[in-house]
Amino acid sequence: MWMSSLWRLVKFVVASALVVLSLQFILSVLTGTRVRTPPLTAEEHRLISPRTYEYLHNQPYVCQVRSPFLLLLVPVAPWEVAARHAVRGTWGSSGEDAMTLFFMGLSANEPQASLLQQSLQKEIKRHRDVIQMNFVDSYQNLTIKTLMMMNWVASHCPNASYAMKVDADIFVNVFYLLAYLRGSPRTSFITGSVIRDGRPRRDPNSKWYLSEEQYPGDSFPPYVSGAGYVFSTELAAQIVQASRFVRVIPMEDVYVGLCLQVLGVRPMYALSFLTLRNLFEIRKLEYDRCTFTRLLIANNFRPSELLQVWQDFSKSHADC
Ligand SMILES: *[C@@H]1O[C@H](CO)[C@@H](O)[C@H](O)[C@H]1NC(C)=O
Ligand SMILES: *[C@@H]1O[C@H](CO)[C@@H](O)[C@H](O)[C@H]1NC(C)=O
Repeated sequence: MWMSSLWRLVKFVVASALVVLSLQFILSVLTGTRVRTPPLTAEEHRLISPRTYEYLHNQPYVCQVRSPFLLLLVPVAPWEVAARHAVRGTWGSSGEDAMTLFFMGLSANEPQASLLQQSLQKEIKRHRDVIQMNFVDSYQNLTIKTLMMMNWVASHCPNASYAMKVDADIFVNVFYLLAYLRGSPRTSFITGSVIRDGRPRRDPNSKWYLSEEQYPGDSFPPYVSGAGYVFSTELAAQIVQASRFVRVIPMEDVYVGLCLQVLGVRPMYALSFLTLRNLFEIRKLEYDRCTFTRLLIANNFRPSELLQVWQDFSKSHADC
């Protein structure tokens, strides 16, 4: 008799230990582990530090005039006039809760650059939604742009709850996004299309080539695709802090992932419950009103397509 109750006790202890162990495992996966690395040398840090660059055109008071719940931060090149026009005509102006700002560097090609800069001055005056910085706007310099955006949020709009870095060729379902964020964590939160198995490309012809000297590791920590990711604004200052430990690489989204690793913050998946589909769709999808109501973003829209799709979506997304 007592043998069988002893056996039951053993089974109970083993089962409890398993539950505790797996809980610990799940928790460690959820919270991530802080990675300790030495700080950059002064020269390495200078390349990436927001102190190295300036905001030539700034909008320092926009968040004091109107305090948004969500900031939409859109990196664009100075010459992408049509893209800005499309964003302003669609998800970029969709109500009081969100505010859109464009971030650009300088055009390098003289003499077109000075003509462009003149028309830009007018655009900036008219819309007051452009922040221009004093580095050359190029793919290679996107990481600097992202850090300058983070620094801007931390200095000029810390009271917004969330910020989203989103490219201008993205369809953003702001209606769903705002509702989604009302139920999301307020701190240490970053979500998007999570990439867990990223690796550096060692082929020098690849657009994403990284030499072993630039990045010695053979895999990337989890990161969120740069097409569009959302974070709690207090993370902006933390990412700038963490950048003191992370050498600059041209892939801004991987760079943010490396900073998150320093901070011990893991990007969260955003999946739809029923279909387990990613709410941040980074493939190109054919427009379908009711499919798009159930997504947060969709990728790869030309300015004219965005304007066209939005006419239908903004009117009738509630009918689905
Ligand atoms: C943020 O909110 C606090 C308290 O509500 C206020 O004192 C502060 O001035 C605000 N900061 C900005 C930059 O608007
Ligand atoms: C990045 O910006 C700096 C500062 O303007 C410039 O010197 C450099 O050439 C740019 N890099 C690329 C690859 O465009």
